[in-house]
Formats: sequence, structure tokens, C-alpha cells
Amino acid sequence: MGIQITPSILNADFADLGREVARIGSADWVHVDVMDNHFVPNLTFGPTMVEALARSTDLPLDVHLMIDDPDRHAPAYVEAGAGSVTFHVEAAAAPVRLAREIRSAGARASMALRPATPVDPYADLLPELDMLLVMTVEPGFGGQRFLDLCLPKIRRARDLIGRSGGQTWLQVDGGVSLETIERCAEAGADVFVAGSAVYTADDPDAMVASLRAAAEAAAG
Ligand code: DX5
Ligand code: ZN
Repeated sequence: MGIQITPSILNADFADLGREVARIGSADWVHVDVMDNHFVPNLTFGPTMVEALARSTDLPLDVHLMIDDPDRHAPAYVEAGAGSVTFHVEAAAAPVRLAREIRSAGARASMALRPATPVDPYADLLPELDMLLVMTVEPGFGGQRFLDLCLPKIRRARDLIGRSGGQTWLQVDGGVSLETIERCAEAGADVFVAGSAVYTADDPDAMVASLRAAAEAAAG
């Protein structure tokens, strides 16, 4: 798998999501930010909305759960049609069991780290994960400034993934734009979430193409 771009609809028009998703036809995934007002101070979608989105697009859904108790709630998102489900390790009681459950329900299993959560303690979990998400802002809102302090962790994660067989995708999310995507790609990320960069562009699909070109050039 090469570089993948997964626009976040968090900054799209919620009243017209079917049309908004149709504006990013060349994306690899649609990134859906699920927030519960507990794990993060913001509230967005639930499984019913994910189900409706899945019906409205051919693009696979990359669901990012920023919720408490993902052990209990994650399976409903696989059921709703998500192709990939990401839970936060800070919220999960049993991350290995949860990743296995997501996989056996038929989706890709992914685990996210907040900016202050180190990756090293989770090195042995990598074979259980189809993707690792290194957050590059504090989760909760779109449009925040990229945190450069996360770059060493992206490099470290790439190194650990290489040692564990190299199968796990490495996603970055938060403040990713034409200004920051090269740094992430150089550090070893291969899946890029971009919310405001895509949905504030006049032509969101052209922005997807530009982001992809910039990441591919930087990844070499
Ligand atoms: C933040 C979300 C992100 C957000 C990204 O908590 O997880 O997916 O939508 O938006 P930008 O790209 O604007 O930082
Ligand atoms: Zn996200």
C-alpha cells in the first residue's frame, strides 16, 4: 500500500454529508470522527449516522472513535459498515481483545495515541493492529495547529512497525495540510487524515490530489 489520503468530514457541512462526501471522489477513505462529549469535549455522530454514510458512498469509512468505553461500543460501528475502526488506547480496557474483536467482526483494527501517549509500551501490540494512529493535535476539534512535538513519535512508530513485520499502516491526524504533510511523510506516516485543509479548499478533490502528491514526493 502506498500513500493514502483520508479526508475528515468533521469540518464538512453536516446537513449535507452525502454531497460533501461526493466532493472527495479520489480519496482512499472517508474519515469519520465519532465523539461522545466524555473522552473529548465535543459531540458528533453515532452508529446510525455511520450506517447512513456507508449507504451514501462507495468509499470505505475510516471511523475514529474518540469515546469512552470503546470495548463496549466499537463493534456497533463495524456492524454499521465501517471498513476500519480506530479506538483510543487511553480509553480501552482491553486493547488486544478489542482489536481482535474488530478484526473478527470484519473491519480493520486500529489504535490511536493522544499526543502525550508514548508508543514504546505498545510495540508488542503492533501485530494485532492493521493501523496505528499517531494524533498530531489533542483530539476533539478540527482546525487546530499541527504539533511538531509528535514527529519523533511518528519516526519511532515507523521504526517499531518495521521491526514487527511492516504490515501496520501508520496514520497521522490533526493539522495535516500542504504545509505539514511533508514532515509527516518524511517521518514515516503513510495514511493522512486532513479535515479543514480539504473542506476549506475551493476544490476538495483537487486538494486531495495535491496532498497525495506532496506526501508521495516527501516519502521518496
Ligand atoms: C480531531 C479529529 C480530526 C480532525 C482533523 O480530533 O480526530 O480527524 O477532524 O481536522 P484538521 O485536519 O482540521 O485538524
Ligand atoms: Zn480523527
